[in-house]
Amino acid sequence: MLKKYFIKTFGCQMNVYDSSRIADMLKKEGYEETAKQQEADIVIFNTCHIREKAAEKLFSDLGRAHIIEQERAESGKRTIIGVVGCVVQAQDDQIMKRAPFVDFAVGPLMYHKITEILQQINHRKEHENFVLTDFPAISKFDFLPENKSQGACSYLAIQEGCNNFCTYCVVPYTRGAEYSRPVKDVLTEAKRLLATGTLEINVLGQNVNSYHGEDENGKERDLAYLLNRLAELDGLKRLRYTTSYPADMNDDLIACHKNLRVLMPYLHLPVQSGSDRILKAMNRRHNSADYLKIIEKLYKANPDLRMSSDFIVGFPGETDEDFTATLDVVNQVKYIQAFSFKYSRRPGTPAAVMENQVEEKVKKERLEILQNLLFDYQEKFNKSCIGQTMPVLFEQKGRHKGQLIGRTPYMQNLHIETKRDNMNKIVDVVVTEATTNSLSGREV
Ligand code: 5AD
Ligand code: SF4
Repeated sequence: MLKKYFIKTFGCQMNVYDSSRIADMLKKEGYEETAKQQEADIVIFNTCHIREKAAEKLFSDLGRAHIIEQERAESGKRTIIGVVGCVVQAQDDQIMKRAPFVDFAVGPLMYHKITEILQQINHRKEHENFVLTDFPAISKFDFLPENKSQGACSYLAIQEGCNNFCTYCVVPYTRGAEYSRPVKDVLTEAKRLLATGTLEINVLGQNVNSYHGEDENGKERDLAYLLNRLAELDGLKRLRYTTSYPADMNDDLIACHKNLRVLMPYLHLPVQSGSDRILKAMNRRHNSADYLKIIEKLYKANPDLRMSSDFIVGFPGETDEDFTATLDVVNQVKYIQAFSFKYSRRPGTPAAVMENQVEEKVKKERLEILQNLLFDYQEKFNKSCIGQTMPVLFEQKGRHKGQLIGRTPYMQNLHIETKRDNMNKIVDVVVTEATTNSLSGREV
């Protein structure tokens, strides 16, 4: 019987959540986690297909996994190698062609079947690969075992998939159409997480603010309703939601930033580009004025709120003028954190076959200019925190003895040296130092 498993996760928070649910399933069946790949009888890669680089990483990892598999075989140990997640949905045939030693490949909507597949593989002597890439009619969430907190901060998936079809994006193809979990199921999972040590819940969805789950009476409810219900739960200290689509930020959701004490004053709201022409070519349902208007409303609802975003530079047809419009948005919103990427052609998406592709050199230059500006604002904000007292949730041990790493309400990493047992607690800290990427402080 194969006992130990190792999971490596690429990509977004949804993948981190999925990996922890896969781990729950395996643990329930008696498997045990290991952080050492060499020790693992089952090796699982949970993959991301969003940009070419992310997908290519899988193949180098698979190459290494094959070598380890052969070394283990020499001492009579069998290894099962599995690939799950978005690359499977998009390229299962390529995986099996380039890495035929892979035992199973399972798409993001089918991972509740993994333990069944493992049982079948265990009973077979001959190598055979299992591929499961259906978009099932029944939600996988109904088949997953109960989960417990992994620490003081937990992710909770409430929505999956996307109907927006931004022209650059693979998500609608890899995660399928939008699906929202019923209100009752979300509350049950939240209560269980809170009962097992969670203080902060981050509700997740590819398009989280288009949530439209059914309530206990069969009525469709939006994210604002769900956040209000979650905010009432005993023991919840912090609430966040990721990732939102600008056109789906309705007034009730904006009002949550005024009315819900537990909702953290930090919001990730990707704009992608500041140019209306490019936004249109991206098939985004907002222009830059709509986006800035939403932010104005959000700042009015909670003046302490700060923003983060995703950006793509070098989308097909992007001119210097379009790029300058993106810089203008950055200068207006003054993001305190952001993710920015060079446009990556993804097979099967409309933008991949657009004729006016931007040269790699230009993409690189623009990315550097944008990132320098974003880092400036990030550093300015971090430095402005020096001298302030902030509640910090400590969730990780640092490298040195007595060092703890936690998160501020603004998702900044903050380090302290302490003799107290502050792990998994929210503690007031005075910020003493700040760099672009992190803060240091001491307990009050
Ligand atoms: N190329 C570059 N960046 C992309 N993203 C999504 N698709 C692509 C692509 N083809 C970025 C977007 C999105 C984030 C998760 O990844 O900015 O918000
Ligand atoms: Fe991609 Fe657009 Fe869906 Fe975000 S909203 S995942 S960018 S298609």
